[in-house]
Amino acid sequence: MHTAPTELRDGEIDVDLTDTELYRHGFPHELFAELRRQGAVLRHPTVPMRRSPDGFGFWVVIGHPELQEAARASEAFSAAAGPMVIPNPADRSGIAMTSSDGDTHTRLRKLVSAGFTPRMIAHLEEQVLRRTTQILDGVAAAGGDCDLVRDLAYPLPMHIIADIVGMPDQDRSWVFSHTDRIMRSNDPRAGITLEERAQLEAELFAYAQRLGAEKRRNPADDVWSLLAAAAIEDERGGRSTLSDLELDMFFLVLSIAGSETTRNVISQGVRALLDHPEADADLRARDGVPDIAIEELIRWASPVTSFGRTVNHDTVLGGRDLRAGDRITMWFPSANFDERVFAEPFRLDLDRSPNRHVAFGGGGPHFCLGAHLARREIRTMFEQLLARTTHIERTGEPRWLATGPDAAVAVSLDRLPVRLHFRR
Ligand code: HEM
Repeated sequence: MHTAPTELRDGEIDVDLTDTELYRHGFPHELFAELRRQGAVLRHPTVPMRRSPDGFGFWVVIGHPELQEAARASEAFSAAAGPMVIPNPADRSGIAMTSSDGDTHTRLRKLVSAGFTPRMIAHLEEQVLRRTTQILDGVAAAGGDCDLVRDLAYPLPMHIIADIVGMPDQDRSWVFSHTDRIMRSNDPRAGITLEERAQLEAELFAYAQRLGAEKRRNPADDVWSLLAAAAIEDERGGRSTLSDLELDMFFLVLSIAGSETTRNVISQGVRALLDHPEADADLRARDGVPDIAIEELIRWASPVTSFGRTVNHDTVLGGRDLRAGDRITMWFPSANFDERVFAEPFRLDLDRSPNRHVAFGGGGPHFCLGAHLARREIRTMFEQLLARTTHIERTGEPRWLATGPDAAVAVSLDRLPVRLHFRR
């Protein structure tokens, strides 16, 4: 396979997008810009993958309007087989929001939303500020030298998720190291086998079950206790609650969906400011960080690489004929740099307006449930960071994790040594 793509018959490309090395230094935007010139929807060749050694072929949706169309047309494109490129086995569908459709999905989403009451959201927002302050105090006390990813971007979303589920402080480092290893296992260079990964997942799941059981016995003032008790009316006028399995699955979805993503916007956002000193100076001169600047940093980082769907019935997308049963993958970072929608997409423009990025999904029923909270975390971190420092100095080279599109977040900064110069 070549790394410079050429289009073969029927819109098939001859680049293997599942090769994790493509993502070793961040998202390969140049490659995708080239692919977009060939089409917004392209056929990926059949290639062997860890979960499908005999080979698997699929469609790549890389244009902005086409991605939105696929995300919104949930009748035609089913989420039941989960977000990874390779479909989940049928017995794993319908128990988590990310792998369900229609009424099943609506029911789960309604029940989960019941935990996020306005009072609970206000409480979480206070926690975001408290945790951010603690994190920056810790770096200041250590003299300002730190690893931006490990010491700053990583702890905030992890603690907020842990606060949501009411996780005791003493359990957190154990749980955080499990989620971290699960995520790393997708990078072949991490040397973590599929068996080891399955073991880590099983341990985390068992922990979620113990915590859930404890919350049901002794409800506390956290989202998890509300979820354990939440009920909505079902179609027959009866009472529907989250089953233990559904609640435990939500724990897994949360700990992955809500942590890596936000972490990557913080770390890649700071990196963007280091690479663009004029944007950093401009932000520091303003009174607070405006919403549109946060949206541009989210577009710039686009931390979720791709989500899969299965074609329900024969249909047409981006001029291509798709068949029932085909698998499509929606590439959010590519759509967010689509020249047809974003003027000068490769310019970091903190005043970009409109900014119709699809980093949280292309709309439709699965639009990110945590978008509001994520924005709050990112904004608080940037506001505090810029208010408390005079400048940020890069003290080492970045290192990336490259996990390939078989994991939904395929490109993450793993390490970025910096020195924060705190105001005196
Ligand atoms: C910058 C941070 C984040 C980004 C970029 C992001 C992105 C996404 C994307 C692309 C999807 C899939 C949309 C689709 O299938 O159409 C999604 C779904 C989801 N996200 Fe986020 N997310 C972020 C933070 C969070 C946080 C903090 C939470 C929870 C506290 C969260 C919870 C979820 C859940 C539960 C879903 C599944 C929704 C469903 O299937 O109905 N996310 N997110």
